[in-house]
Amino acid sequence: MPACANPRHGGNLLPLYPAATTASKRTAYPHKPILMASPAHGRTLAVVGATGLVGQAIIRGLAARKFPVKTLLPVASARSKGMTVEFKGQDIPVLTLEEALERKPDLVLLSAGGDVSLQWAKAFTEIGATVVDNSSAWRMDPDVPLVVPEVNADAIEDRHRLIANPNCSTIQLVMVLKPLHDRFLIRRAIVSTYQSVTGTGQAGIDQLNQERDGASANRIYPHPIDRNCLPHCDVFLENDFTKEEMKLHHETKKILGDAQVEVSATAVRVPVVGGHSESVYLEMERPFSVPDVREALQLMPGLIIQDDPMANVYPMPVKAADKDEVFVGRIRRDLSFEQGLHMWIVSDNLRKGAATNAIQIAEFLQRSGRFRK
Ligand SMILES: NC(=O)c1ccc[n+]([C@@H]2O[C@H](COP(=O)([O-])OP(=O)(O)OC[C@H]3O[C@@H](n4cnc5c(N)ncnc54)[C@H](OP(=O)(O)O)[C@@H]3O)[C@@H](O)[C@H]2O)c1
Repeated sequence: MPACANPRHGGNLLPLYPAATTASKRTAYPHKPILMASPAHGRTLAVVGATGLVGQAIIRGLAARKFPVKTLLPVASARSKGMTVEFKGQDIPVLTLEEALERKPDLVLLSAGGDVSLQWAKAFTEIGATVVDNSSAWRMDPDVPLVVPEVNADAIEDRHRLIANPNCSTIQLVMVLKPLHDRFLIRRAIVSTYQSVTGTGQAGIDQLNQERDGASANRIYPHPIDRNCLPHCDVFLENDFTKEEMKLHHETKKILGDAQVEVSATAVRVPVVGGHSESVYLEMERPFSVPDVREALQLMPGLIIQDDPMANVYPMPVKAADKDEVFVGRIRRDLSFEQGLHMWIVSDNLRKGAATNAIQIAEFLQRSGRFRK
């Protein structure tokens, strides 16, 4: 039985959500799910974008992490009318946004693009739902917390009904920057990304597969993506950076709560499916040793160091795919600047970069009793 009985997505379904592999380490934030109320006392939860890549990863993640769901409301566009989505062995009919609003969900996980979020997020909060939004629509709104739970769960206050999930490339970056910033004070980061086609949704996978099959591809990208690299993620802005690059710049400052951390990025789309990779150069204010850096990273929950280059051990998207963690390796001091550090960071953008982070926010809300009573 497919996880999503939507014929448009046939043949491209991701593997089922396996149990998370979690390193045993001292944790300030519990990376593994903590079981809460029994499903009978669980939440009515709407997943908007339920037929998409992120929505499907959320639905698998809710089941795998045993989030207490009493009723699941899968929501998609009119194109998916008559479709069903599988959740815990049941085929559940896909609803429209209007139908989901009438069912008064406690929690809404929005993953259907910025326009849907702008139009619908407030409609759900006005009926008392808490909304976690995966789009970029609300991320830089000063009244909306932008949250990676291991980094800044404390940004969520009781009054917040709308919470933004950061951009996928930002999430994996701040998971590594946070412990280093706390200890060594990061002043500057230069980032080059190597981003998976899954970052552009189902249409990105479709273009890659069609090109590989020799079919004439429906292009989501302006150029071929197979056997190619596009230094172009999202749209170009007046400052010659792309919107994706500026998300890394602005969102990192907001999540770390420090406007002095400067991030400049070049975001590149590559013909890869399993996750995003980032080559990161940092300049830090305080002196550091590489063993100190490793120690700081080891203590960060949800982060795994894979760094034994002589044994060919370093993070790669094929290994990070379908995992919840962020992987870091190739840790080394810069050759020309004593305060400079290089690293390579990889994570599955559909998991920690989107679905897992959103579910972790929901778990935090559930644990801290922030839902409608
Ligand atoms: N992909 C990533 O790595 C990633 C990471 C972080 C955040 N995000 C964000 O997550 C969102 C979804 O991304 P995705 O990769 O899952 O895209 P996707 O595979 O293209 O899926 C889009 C989903 O949105 C639904 N949708 C589109 N228009 C709708 C409408 N008017 N009303 C209701 N549902 C509508 C689609 O339903 P139909 O099937 O009916 O068309 C589908 O379920 C985007 O905002 C994206 O920026 C994505």
